[in-house]
Amino acid sequence: MASGPAEQQPSRAGQGSAPSSVPRRHFFRALAGEVAQTAAAVAAAAASLQRSSAEAAAAVLGESGDVGAYGGPTSPAAGAPLGFRSAFRWDDDRLVLVDQRALPDELREVTVTTATEAAQAIRDMVVRGAPALGQVAAIALALTARRMATARPYARRATIRGSANALRNARPTAVNLGWAVDRMLRRYAAVGELNEDGEAVAAALWAEAEAIVFEASDDHGRLAEAGAAELPVPEGRPLEILTHCNTGPLACGQFGTALGIVAVAHHAGRPLHVWVDETRPLLQGARLTAWELASAGVPHTLIADGAAGHLMARGRVDIVLVGADRIAANGDTANKIGTYSLAVLAARHEIPFWVCAPLSSVDPDLPDGSAIPIEERSAAEVLFVRGQRIAPAVTTAHNPAFDVTPAELVTAIVTEEGVLRPPFGPAIAAALERRRRRRGAASDHEPGGSERGRLEPSEAEPTITATTARSSADRTGGAA
Ligand code: MRU
Repeated sequence: MASGPAEQQPSRAGQGSAPSSVPRRHFFRALAGEVAQTAAAVAAAAASLQRSSAEAAAAVLGESGDVGAYGGPTSPAAGAPLGFRSAFRWDDDRLVLVDQRALPDELREVTVTTATEAAQAIRDMVVRGAPALGQVAAIALALTARRMATARPYARRATIRGSANALRNARPTAVNLGWAVDRMLRRYAAVGELNEDGEAVAAALWAEAEAIVFEASDDHGRLAEAGAAELPVPEGRPLEILTHCNTGPLACGQFGTALGIVAVAHHAGRPLHVWVDETRPLLQGARLTAWELASAGVPHTLIADGAAGHLMARGRVDIVLVGADRIAANGDTANKIGTYSLAVLAARHEIPFWVCAPLSSVDPDLPDGSAIPIEERSAAEVLFVRGQRIAPAVTTAHNPAFDVTPAELVTAIVTEEGVLRPPFGPAIAAALERRRRRRGAASDHEPGGSERGRLEPSEAEPTITATTARSSADRTGGAA
């Protein structure tokens, strides 16, 4: 029987689904009257949505569908129920991914059985989105450990370490990838890299991967709940949200970050409408976000990326919600290319600009965004749209996949530890500490001791270092 993240949650010893912690109860008690009622509705909606999205994921990605090998033929999951879907599931010897390149035309799956195959699938954008990448990398390493259980310890170590490097460098900006790989390697070191008992090594890495996936799901649920509770409430009309790229379950696992907030608010009955940036060059907004919103019945309208400023100038955007691929210690945020432009526009029009990301997207080793590695992808992604060349044959293209938004343009960072406000340096540090206390040492960031984000020289070549443009706009007033 295949077991996806949804099915694995209840079996985790000592961890029910989204337990109601004391700080969480205090958070809600602190809110009065109408706000408290809204928060309670949002909490109920979050729990219910998480249940239904897990059920939908299990149903869509159940045993019934044929699954193609990576690079091989695949088949759609026929009769799939509508709703948010998880990007992956796994069982004892395979990891099954929704092939995000084929959406929205076709819902098909591919399977990978090793970390090396997973790294290739990540490079090819079969699966993408920083939080999902971390979980996929963890599962892939666990699969590899299992396959190597009977190998000699030195051979096993070479394979696991090599796979870890391949995974870490598959997408250099998404810090969750390196974060998850490092966490798996710490567990590997703890059980003994040269342990003669390969089954024990495999079991330890499997348990760590399960914990990473479980925690991610719980974190994203908390994040969505916290963000939805603080969304502005316009008088007598729907809330107008603008979003960029894709931050739903396809990018994050069962839930979502920015889109998780949207889903929770929608599920709680809040009237809202989402402007969806198409997100050139790979159209994650048009292909994935619109598909997820349509599936969940959320009112939305697709716009060309260049239309955002016009809509803001006409007063048709109340808030911008985006995700993050890496957040520096001071709150500077790397996200899909075009995010920085949106932040400048939002500042110009005094529109709240929220970055929505789990704390696993924070890189506390980087004091600011200037050292965030920016992945540069193939020019073909700009020169071609779905196989069709759109520029003259002699024209070249430049394709940085991410940009860095300076913290001063960010109104709030929504995390599983609540909605953080400027100054973000201390707010992030305190949130990391709260998370550490809540979760224990296993999921800690290790300031100064982490390998996260470190690139081998050969892999560093295709990247450029972002310069963090500074704006004179002062948006620290927490306009949201
Ligand atoms: O290149 P991608 O599609 O992996 O880009 C990542 C993203 O989806 C976005 O940057 C997103 O806002 C952050 S991840 C939820």
